[in-house]
Amino acid sequence: MCGIVGYIGNEDARDILLKGLSNLEYRGYDSAGIALLNADGVHVFKEKGRIAVLRESVDPAVHATLGIGHTRWATHGQPNKRNAHPHQSASSRFTLVHNGVIENYVQLKAEYLSGVTMKSETDTEVVVQMIEVFANEGLSTEAAFRKTLKLLEGSYAIALVDAEDSDTLYVAKNKSPLLIGLGDGFNVVASDATAMIQKTKRYVELMDEEVVELTRDSYTIMDLDGNEKTRAPYTVSFDAHDTEKGAYAHYMLKEIDEQPAVMRRLLQEYSGKDGVVTLDPTITKAVNAADRIYIIACGTSYHAGLVGKHLLETIAGIPTEVHISSEFSYNMPLLSKKPLFVFISQSGETADSRAVLVKVKKLGHPTLTMTNVEGSTLYREADYKMLLFAGPEIAVASTKAYTAMIAVFAFIAVASAQKKGTKLDLDLVHEMSIAAQGMEQMIDEKALLKEVARDYLSITRNAFYIGRGLDYYVCMEASLKLKEVSYIQAEGFAGGELKHGTIALIEDGTPVFAFATQKNVNNNIRSNVQEVAARGAHTCIISMDGVTNHADDRIVLPNVHPALTPLVCAVPLQLIAYYAALQNECDVDKPRNLAKSVTVE
Ligand code: F6R
Repeated sequence: MCGIVGYIGNEDARDILLKGLSNLEYRGYDSAGIALLNADGVHVFKEKGRIAVLRESVDPAVHATLGIGHTRWATHGQPNKRNAHPHQSASSRFTLVHNGVIENYVQLKAEYLSGVTMKSETDTEVVVQMIEVFANEGLSTEAAFRKTLKLLEGSYAIALVDAEDSDTLYVAKNKSPLLIGLGDGFNVVASDATAMIQKTKRYVELMDEEVVELTRDSYTIMDLDGNEKTRAPYTVSFDAHDTEKGAYAHYMLKEIDEQPAVMRRLLQEYSGKDGVVTLDPTITKAVNAADRIYIIACGTSYHAGLVGKHLLETIAGIPTEVHISSEFSYNMPLLSKKPLFVFISQSGETADSRAVLVKVKKLGHPTLTMTNVEGSTLYREADYKMLLFAGPEIAVASTKAYTAMIAVFAFIAVASAQKKGTKLDLDLVHEMSIAAQGMEQMIDEKALLKEVARDYLSITRNAFYIGRGLDYYVCMEASLKLKEVSYIQAEGFAGGELKHGTIALIEDGTPVFAFATQKNVNNNIRSNVQEVAARGAHTCIISMDGVTNHADDRIVLPNVHPALTPLVCAVPLQLIAYYAALQNECDVDKPRNLAKSVTVE
């Protein structure tokens, strides 16, 4: 949802910014731009489209040691060159990039900019124009910037340069993510640490409504009144290598393949040498103190939450509800007396989820965030936190974070049950290792899964996934994955529900995938398969070895504990979507209209 970078140092800023933007491109890819400041003034380059298009348009003869950059996911104004960032003030003295939404930009424009001719249709331009208006009234850049920020309603991460000062980069943050990265003789700014990981592993978090003055060797953090604050840097736990594709054609494929290793990492993090699940005891206490857990998430994370509900209820015996963040925010159900809110978010930045976090914190309820990004907004703002340890997830479609979320729920559920002294029929550490092996076996079945994608999805415009119980939740994720990367319209359905209306859509050749890993409903789902096959559907059964398989099932998953079946189901559902996307010549890692981190509500 837009990514921003900035650099101030002694090296050539151009390539550092372009590399940083390429690393951030998953956040939005409608248009992109950079501004470079040198002795001749500010040079702005921007283009509609991807970073590769921008790279071609940047004049290689322009050298500068200070610059800012932006990759855009359009909110206000069409994704064209005119609306691309950076934006400049009337005299071009000030240039800035912005991630977020200025909600009151129409009022601000009317009140402060009546004499100014706007150059774009964006909310962002209002900010840069106001800074110039206030600077023309005699304020310093820093004071004009703070005065402007105080008037803004909405979200922003901003990097600003003043053509009259080549020694300072100004940044500010409210609700949108922003970090400062520290180097030797240089400093950087980035929406997240992956952008600038080539330059540094040391970062400083910024809080909402903070402004920073950055020079080549210092950073000064202030509140909007100019009061200075101090904050120590932290070191991120990954390096540049983790963000690279290596020999893989796509990040999505790399990240699918990484899933068994993520499971093993989680076993290391959340279990002891004796094979017992070990969680931070304050988390187990908070979970066991709750009379009901409310899981709040969006998209794929919501689907992981549905599996999480099953695990918490069946293993830990805690009633659990799962809610889509954007719905919960404005349509809050009656809450129990002692709720615990669990936020699941790969990025830790999703605005819809954060809106709920802010609301329930105000109500005084305890909160736990499960995220892949340490230091992210949801991570920082929750009372309790658990990391997914999946490593940077770069492909826009989430894969390894999904299975990591499910695994972390299993650890929470088992830790809770252990603490309560509940007798368990699940040795999680052992069963999770078996599931990791099962995922590996499915990863080795790429040829089969490619063939399935070819046989079922090469000419179709739509597809269905059906399942019951845990398999139903898997189907919801399978259909989302297929839709978003291959643009085939897909629906995940509870097997028994299809006949109550949707079966009308089944025609000759309609692909219907059925997940059948649950013994207790095996006969029922197979009857549902018969119902659609009788109406011409092209059916593909994905069953589980030794539990639900029949000789002619197209895909047979390796046997794993019934509570962990979604972990192995994830691999074929992801690989089928991946190969369908390749067949349709889609941009697998950056599907149209999407952004990885959705920081607007
Ligand atoms: C789909 C996908 C999205 C995200 C959703 C929530 O593949 O990635 O549906 O799951 O936008 O994002 P996070 O988990 O970052 O809150």
